[in-house]
Amino acid sequence: QIFRLEDYKPSAYLIPGIALDFALDADETLVTARLRVERAENAPDNAPLELDGDALTLEALRINGADAPVSSYEATPDKLTIRKLPEEREFELTIVTRVLPSSNTTLMGLYVSSGVFCTQCEAEGFRRITYFLDRPDILSVYTVRMEADRKAAPLLLSNGNPVESGALENGRHFAVWHDPFPKPSYLFALVAGDLGVVTDSFTTASGREVSLGIYVEHGKEERAAYAMDALKRSMRWDEERFGREYDLDVFNIVAVSDFNMGAMENKGLNVFNDKYVLADAETATDVDFANIEAIIAHEYFHNWTGNRITCRDWFQLCLKEGLTVFRDHEFSADERSRAVKRIGEVRALRAHQFPEDQGPLAHPVRPRRYREINNFYTATVYEKGSEVVRMLRTILGEEAFRAGMDLYFERHDGQAVTIEDFLKAFEDASGRDLTQFALWYHQAGTPNVALSSRYDAEAKTLTVEIEQSVPPTPSESRKRLMHIPLAFGLVGPEGEDLAYESAEGAVVENGVIHLRKRRHTIVFKGVNARPVFSVNRGFSAPVTLCSEGRTADRLFLARHDSDPFSRWQALTTLFTDTLIAASKAVRGGKEPAFADDLVQLGLDLAADATLEEAFRALVLTLPSEADVAREIGHDIDPDAIHTARRALLETIARAGRETFGDLYEGLHDNAPFSPDARSAGRRALRNTLLEYLVLGEGTPQAARRQFDDADNMTERAGALTILAQYFHDTEDGRAALAAFEERYRDTPLVLDKWLQIQAMIPSEGAVSLVRSLMEHPHFSLANPNRVRALIGTFSMANQTAFHSADGEGYRLVADTVLALDGQNPQVAARLATAFRSWRSLDKGRREHARALLADMAGRENLSRDLADILERTLA
Ligand code: ARG
Ligand code: ZN
Repeated sequence: QIFRLEDYKPSAYLIPGIALDFALDADETLVTARLRVERAENAPDNAPLELDGDALTLEALRINGADAPVSSYEATPDKLTIRKLPEEREFELTIVTRVLPSSNTTLMGLYVSSGVFCTQCEAEGFRRITYFLDRPDILSVYTVRMEADRKAAPLLLSNGNPVESGALENGRHFAVWHDPFPKPSYLFALVAGDLGVVTDSFTTASGREVSLGIYVEHGKEERAAYAMDALKRSMRWDEERFGREYDLDVFNIVAVSDFNMGAMENKGLNVFNDKYVLADAETATDVDFANIEAIIAHEYFHNWTGNRITCRDWFQLCLKEGLTVFRDHEFSADERSRAVKRIGEVRALRAHQFPEDQGPLAHPVRPRRYREINNFYTATVYEKGSEVVRMLRTILGEEAFRAGMDLYFERHDGQAVTIEDFLKAFEDASGRDLTQFALWYHQAGTPNVALSSRYDAEAKTLTVEIEQSVPPTPSESRKRLMHIPLAFGLVGPEGEDLAYESAEGAVVENGVIHLRKRRHTIVFKGVNARPVFSVNRGFSAPVTLCSEGRTADRLFLARHDSDPFSRWQALTTLFTDTLIAASKAVRGGKEPAFADDLVQLGLDLAADATLEEAFRALVLTLPSEADVAREIGHDIDPDAIHTARRALLETIARAGRETFGDLYEGLHDNAPFSPDARSAGRRALRNTLLEYLVLGEGTPQAARRQFDDADNMTERAGALTILAQYFHDTEDGRAALAAFEERYRDTPLVLDKWLQIQAMIPSEGAVSLVRSLMEHPHFSLANPNRVRALIGTFSMANQTAFHSADGEGYRLVADTVLALDGQNPQVAARLATAFRSWRSLDKGRREHARALLADMAGRENLSRDLADILERTLA
């Protein structure tokens, strides 16, 4: 079945209130749901009521308190249809279902993770708990009562505020929670178990006291301190930046170890993958700390963008996700280095969203059709969705943007709305017409922007030719012209931005060119010196730029542009181009060669003490093999790319041997560990330098020393990664891997790093190493973090092995996908997206991939999730 946006119909019935009662038992839980049902205005009296279900067993059905006659309804595991309903517009339905938490391996609905009952309802998990109108435009007030064994589950949590609790017979107890805010079923949550807690409190701007709790496994409480700090900072930031206050008496977060995604914003009760809660110096890297800060903020921000205002239907997913990602990006930018944060965002967008947009799984930020909504929690909906909101701000300016947000909150609080409603708020607040801009939501594909410029010294004019085009994507062959905001500067000989008298040929305001036609010829008048044109500053639009390749200009911008993002971009473009040329050379049997001035530029920037250390670390981080492959785009040979990149690393390492050694030593400090951005930047630079040092010296000593001396996970894991990459078959490499395994035997999240590091080793034996790690007692297909650490990393960050010419890397991933599909379709389908760029590989690899994809697609009993991905990937 395919769901289409244009088929949306308001429901004939509403459910303004629901009382849920859970008799919790791991093997068999009885769920009694009392629904206050209301026939909608204009709905026909005799409309049958069709409730969604998924793998449910109906135990009893009562209408207004009386058993429903068997002839009045029909129940299957995935649907309850009631044909005979009371005449009155309002009635009560009591539905008793039986669910099996401990055998629920899908991690959707009610399940058990390490002995703790928990739920995941987004997108359509609530229907695995009870029959319901499981769609986001049905808003209900929830009262939840649960009872459980007091010993096994002393803690009983749900959404909203606690109302009542007490003891029952047989060692059982109960609790009642009430959430006054009407909400869609996907935001329902329940947690019951035996957990430790960290508590704190927050006073909102208007003086409301909120009790905060973060629940983790006993003994891990200290590792939740950073998450708590991030939560309080998020709450304050949303007040200050968006005027949004928290609205309940309690806010709880629970960390669980088996979780399909990152985290979930259930009203007042966020449930997290423990990977995004637990952190301390011993077990977490700086990247982990930054992710925790961002995800804690993201889920908290959903309280307004997602919960108070939610989506009318799942096509509108970006309404809450794109906007909330934008908000969490802004939060991290304010808390850390804005420039470094922005570069990280763009790298991630290019690594994850661009390939999606350029392959068979491309879809608009707001899709028009889906078979399985879980497959649309994508980089396009999330990350490109955030870029679209960012462009909106660029176009409107900070003030009008904020006015639009305020109007959106005011107008739609308590509603389930659409992207059109969202945009309308900005149109009304700013008086602008956003019709053309809205295409960013409706049209898939990464636009290309081609650009050239020439300076006329006599006339003092700079003429810029810009042309846009959007490549075709699946089922959208003809594209309309987009509104593309390009931030720019005319960089003068001293690096300063030159003034100009006027600009013609496009709307140019506040440093932004508004591209709205296919072609613009823009003439800047009164430009007193030849400028270098710096464009798409701050990555103001998510496009692919193709400008005439003046290397000298790029070298200049990398050194002098006043926008740090553009400096990084200029350098990255130079590195990418040189790596593309070098891979070609390698493929043609030649030695790759690299220009001295480029290598020198890298060294100079890395050593420039006026720049932030985190920025300097990024400067020395070459484009990944996948980045280079994506830029090449067709007939890709990953081995050649690997060889070329390795050669460039070694060239830089040799050229910088002395500089890097001094820098590395100079960055050492004896202060106790602190996860702040500044310290993290220093460690990032040290780790980056270490790789070059080791390559320059050709011995593992420096890495081995850092590995042994490190007092934090960033440096320990950084050293281990280098040892594994380059010395895995030496005594040092083996010893370090063994020591790490031994030290973290009982810390699953850290052992995941050990899996990850080995999954990235680019050796001949990579496939068999990963297969043998799947037999390691730590590995389990049942836990998504394990699968992502080992198989996910292998498929994304080990290009030569995943794309191994004999097809064995593909086979490994395909085997895992199939083995997983029976237990956890969502994670299986996600893993299968590793094949999305298969058509861009060289012929031999393409053939292997096609054969495996076809073989998988032909299997019986595939989940809808996996079947959908495979069919679209092959189409
Ligand atoms: N809404 C969650 C977040 O982004 C993600 C939940 C997705 N879950 C899923 N089963 N697809 O914050
Ligand atoms: Zn989200």
